[in-house]
Amino acid sequence: MDRILVMDFGGQYNQLIARRVRSLHVYAEVRPYSRITPQEIRDAGYRGIIFTGGPNSVYDPASPHCSPEVLRLGIPVLGICYGHQLMAYTEGGTISPAESGSEYGRTELFCSGHPLFRDVPETSICFMSHTDCVSVLPEGFAVLGHTDHCACAAMGNDERRLYGVQFHPEVTHTEYGMTVLRNFVFGICSCRADWVMDDFIERSVARYREELRGRKVLLALSGGVDSSVAAVLLHRAIGRNLSCVFVDHGLLRKNEGDYVERTLGHELGVNVIRINAADRFLSRLAGVTEPERKRKIIGEEFIRVFEDEAGKLGHIDDLAQGTIYPDVIESGKGDSAVIKSHHNVGGLPSVMAFKGIVEPLRDLFKDEVREVGRRLGIPDELVMRQPFPGPGLGVRIIGEITKEKLDLLREADAIFREELDRSSVRNECAQYFAVLTDTRSVGVMGDARTYGYTVALRAVRSDDFMTAEWARLPYEVLERASNRITNEVRGISRVVYDITSKPPATVEWE
Ligand code: XMP
Repeated sequence: MDRILVMDFGGQYNQLIARRVRSLHVYAEVRPYSRITPQEIRDAGYRGIIFTGGPNSVYDPASPHCSPEVLRLGIPVLGICYGHQLMAYTEGGTISPAESGSEYGRTELFCSGHPLFRDVPETSICFMSHTDCVSVLPEGFAVLGHTDHCACAAMGNDERRLYGVQFHPEVTHTEYGMTVLRNFVFGICSCRADWVMDDFIERSVARYREELRGRKVLLALSGGVDSSVAAVLLHRAIGRNLSCVFVDHGLLRKNEGDYVERTLGHELGVNVIRINAADRFLSRLAGVTEPERKRKIIGEEFIRVFEDEAGKLGHIDDLAQGTIYPDVIESGKGDSAVIKSHHNVGGLPSVMAFKGIVEPLRDLFKDEVREVGRRLGIPDELVMRQPFPGPGLGVRIIGEITKEKLDLLREADAIFREELDRSSVRNECAQYFAVLTDTRSVGVMGDARTYGYTVALRAVRSDDFMTAEWARLPYEVLERASNRITNEVRGISRVVYDITSKPPATVEWE
């Protein structure tokens, strides 16, 4: 199997680069630049290397530099942004601050007819985010593209198969970014497109069978797609040594607990232990209104319940979780700022009774996780289920969480999802749910005045949940949902529709 190495220099799109390459059916893996030697690269037989971006300037003494030998292995290299500058600098070129200051955002790119730009028009839009520029090319390199403010937006040395681009081909804002990556991977590295998710499954199963030999693992099953896929994957690797504790924290959607228990436990044979802990969660959440506090409490309580359960199960070595890549970066474990602490990463209590954490899906994006699930034989109904956050309805109730509010939200949410599921636009929406706001308003029912909660409906389109667009639902769907919710759920007197995209909003309200 042909593989591409993504050498990580600290940029925010590193996993995205790997994911884009994998979408071309060529396996790509991200490794920190400091943790792989030129010898290891050679021995591993990579067909190509991509240097990622990063926030530093190459002249900064603290900036990350790899061994210059990496560029002399005879393996093609594509440097992106910082990686492009690092390549130029290492090869004897000069980097200077751009004359016009930083260049950020969508920018016109003028490129040559070089094979790296095959099928890319002479003028196209690329995404730039940099302050420094390559001002003097290293020997043997030629300029392959420029922008109005950057004379060397792309460079290359064909003899040594070394290339650099100042822009980010991996982000969708770069119109022909995938074409550039495709040209590098197939045209320059001559990779074969023979990687499928089955390889990921096989590698993971073999890896965990080996690493977890003789160990007992407890998996935090939340009922969402991610932890369900992680459960089935690990079950395949270690069978009954995996115990999946499914905490019903009382923050699940209508009928969800029974569905998860039946599908994973009874139908797929995974060892599922369901714990009904709603009271425990509700009493810890009583009176708490601040979103981050709620998340932390739910996260901590989750782990405590697991620890209690682990105690009952006897000796347990590791805790497994369905963390996926967007959770990792949004919790500030990558290089971007903390946006929300996802309970399965950021909210972990510091004192844990487990020896290790097992996160088999940590490098994957949502659509890749679904693909893994499907190939593991998980029914489409579960795999295609929209994602559901670990803290559950807890992040969809604004203000204090009470049993009464949870019951109202569960009913309203079930109605909205049922109406959308019946409509023709269902497949266009990546996620759709109801939120119970803390606002109450006056209504009228029959001749009587009512004073009930306002429910907000949210439906988004998204590929990877890093960005999302609010879905243009047909008025009829919204109308039916609104009528039914206000008629059938006593205590809700108003329904609104959320028309905010991400960014600036997030998908969840808290
Ligand atoms: P946001 O609200 O951050 O959501 O735009 C992006 C995606 O992540 C889900 N989400 C979570 N998933 N634990 C999870 O496992 C969490 O704490 C969490 N918070 C948000 C959200 O539903 C959406 O799909």
